[in-house]
Amino acid sequence: MRMVDLIEKKRDGKALTTEEIQFIINGFTDGSIPDYQMSAWSMAVYFKGMNEQERADLTMAMVESGDQIDLSMIEGIKVDKHSTGGVGDTTTLVLGPLVAAVGVPVAKMSGRGLGHTGGTIDKLESVKGFHVEIENDEFIRLVNKNKIAVIGQSGNLTPADKKLYALRDVTGTVNSIGLIAGSIMSKKIAAGADAIVLDVKTGAGAFMKTLEDSEELAHAMVSIGNNVGRNTMAVISDMSQPLGYAIGNALEVKEAIDTLKGEGPEDLTELSLTLGSHMVYLAKKASSLEEARTLLENAIKDGSALNSFKIFLEAQGGDGSVVDQPEKLPQAAHTFELEAKEDGYVSEIIADEVGTAAMLLGAGRATKESEIDLAVGLVLRKKIGETVAKGESLVTIYSNFEDVSKVKEKLYESIAISKEKIEKPTLIYKEIM
Ligand code: URA
Ligand code: CA
Repeated sequence: MRMVDLIEKKRDGKALTTEEIQFIINGFTDGSIPDYQMSAWSMAVYFKGMNEQERADLTMAMVESGDQIDLSMIEGIKVDKHSTGGVGDTTTLVLGPLVAAVGVPVAKMSGRGLGHTGGTIDKLESVKGFHVEIENDEFIRLVNKNKIAVIGQSGNLTPADKKLYALRDVTGTVNSIGLIAGSIMSKKIAAGADAIVLDVKTGAGAFMKTLEDSEELAHAMVSIGNNVGRNTMAVISDMSQPLGYAIGNALEVKEAIDTLKGEGPEDLTELSLTLGSHMVYLAKKASSLEEARTLLENAIKDGSALNSFKIFLEAQGGDGSVVDQPEKLPQAAHTFELEAKEDGYVSEIIADEVGTAAMLLGAGRATKESEIDLAVGLVLRKKIGETVAKGESLVTIYSNFEDVSKVKEKLYESIAISKEKIEKPTLIYKEIM
């Protein structure tokens, strides 16, 4: 096989075979196919697309390019949740203990990552003593015992995706539905998921800005999963404004605790119950979505969801008493209120910009080396559609700096108030199975 022939075949809009796609991914991973040919191929895919079979083949070739996590020692169906990313998205912290409480095994491998706040591990590390540096055997033992454990990323997962994503980034080929779907799904499958629940965000603060694009991506990922033997479904949810109220590490842990107690923000609670119901259903712990939801609602009511969080934290060295005394989490030295400059309805809270304001406080990492401040961040006091009076607080700023003028400026730019009545945005647009 010659790469140039495969580039031409795709350029002319023909479908590639399983063997041809394996040849491309293997050759690119081992370096025998140079970047310039891979770039040309990616651009051909960008313009001509891939059919369902090609997308599944690409995904599996990338899965097989590196290590695959073996979770077969864990009893039950391992369901993973993946979000395409948003601002202040506390759902992972809520969902893990929540579904574990009803018997779904949560074997999470997680990273730190760049962004407006830290990743799931950073957030959890705001609980004193909690750590993810555990051996594989211990990880498996904990999931079997408590139904939930988190381990730091290790091994060489999907090296082909790493290399290809970096190349796409500089060749104008990131925004191809087939390539994005393959990239995301390959990572989930290599991490050992039997079934996958996807939270595809849509709106100004999301990777996919329009409902149409979000739906197309969701369909692409669901069909890849189902084509390679992993039960997969997707929820399309709103990211026109941040989810919940808190954006920050310790602040989101506190928000997760509130939500597990049944006292969390309405949108975060609803999205967690929706995603959680699908996880419980795919794990075959309930025979319908309604039954799954009732199980989860009961776990919140009877305290078992909160208790599952406590047990999980303690099993990995953390101080579990934070679930009863969240004031033990890192606290910022100062708080400031962002006061509304006029009366009206909150009409816009640009998620990306609010995220940037949280980063200015030190809640996130700009580069791999940056230190993050676990205590700082933002808590929204108003969401889109709510009324506000002049002088009322729109946001509480938790800071370890005394001067937050730049943060306030950024927040004023990102929150709009209108005289006309504004409806609350839809939270869940679609469920795709
Ligand atoms: N996120 C990924 O992991 N891969 C993509 O290609 C795009 C977003
Ligand atoms: Ca939040």
